[in-house]
Amino acid sequence: MRITGLGRAVPEQVLTNTDLERMVETTDEWIVERTGIRERHIAVPGETTSTLGTAAARAALDSAGVSAEAIDLIVVGTSTPDAVFPATASRIQDALGARRAGAFDVNAACAGFLAAISTGMQFVAGGGAERVLVVGAETMSRIIDWTDRNTCVLFGDGAGAVVLERGTADEPGALESFVLRSDGSLASLLYCGGPNEPAIAGSPAGPYIVMDGRNVFRQAVTAMTQAAAEALARAGLGVSDIALCVPHQANLRIVDAVARNLGLRGDRVFTNLERYGNTSSASIPIALSEANDLGRLQPGDHLLMLAFGGGLAWGAMVVEWAGVRSARPRDASVHVPLEQAVPA
Ligand code: COA
Repeated sequence: MRITGLGRAVPEQVLTNTDLERMVETTDEWIVERTGIRERHIAVPGETTSTLGTAAARAALDSAGVSAEAIDLIVVGTSTPDAVFPATASRIQDALGARRAGAFDVNAACAGFLAAISTGMQFVAGGGAERVLVVGAETMSRIIDWTDRNTCVLFGDGAGAVVLERGTADEPGALESFVLRSDGSLASLLYCGGPNEPAIAGSPAGPYIVMDGRNVFRQAVTAMTQAAAEALARAGLGVSDIALCVPHQANLRIVDAVARNLGLRGDRVFTNLERYGNTSSASIPIALSEANDLGRLQPGDHLLMLAFGGGLAWGAMVVEWAGVRSARPRDASVHVPLEQAVPA
């Protein structure tokens, strides 16, 4: 199993902390100090999870040198699908012209990419597919209550994608271990209602994200630390063997606490949440794609990915890096005036 392609796409529109100061009672200083986030990209009308996912997927196919027709399966991790159905994966399949591919979505909230990529890897490892496209794509801005300062400063929109292919034993690239966990008893800490869960009386129309930030923070640190330790043990590796850790990009303080707990050196941990906020399922593949463009991953390196989100759901994965060509990203960071940036 090898990761052979990587791509990302984010909306051009940028919402800064200064913009948020004019929307809710907050300050740039508070947001940076508590989260590390300075700006996030926000989809404009017409931009959806599937359009972002398609752009990221095209970049990933380009970098792998694989045509859409060669893809056997498309798995999309998302909790903000374009529609309840069809699956966002089917929309991406159609937009790409991936005529031979099966397509479905998986939802594990912010752990969605890890759930999706481990699913795709099992298809490749089990012989069910030769080439799998895995996408993490979100438009979190559409499920945010823009009057709730507890949540609206944290999230952003975007997509990342990877191509998985069968490799041979003599070339680098392998799935070394993965751990997926869930504790549904803690669902009330972080959730977003659906069609069968009418909004709680007195709460704004939605459905919107509801979060107990402080407890989510604690759970995230403990869960990702434990999952990382377990994944490393299963892979037979120590922390010092890890060339790069790409964690879910929710909050710099969460990332730092997990790294400290594990004894991971700061220069081995990749973060870009400063410019994207928490893009949920898209955060790991966007970060992976940027890390690769920056030359932070070399063939044969051991990569540790960590994820955590609503569910609660979390996990970790260790991969031996195969080496991936950089793809041109579609993320010109243009700042647009506030009146256009705030979703209706
Ligand atoms: N601007 C200014 N003040 C804010 C604020 C904002 N955007 N959001 C919350 N506050 C206030 C709170 O209302 C609280 O005020 P109070 O004491 O008068 O009630 C105060 O700041 C401190 O809140 P607290 O919850 O202790 O802050 P914190 O240090 O835990 O930081 C989060 C808050 C949300 C940044 C932090 O808890 C967090 O990141 N949690 C995890 C969230 C997350 O990552 N979710 C997704 C997981 S996938």
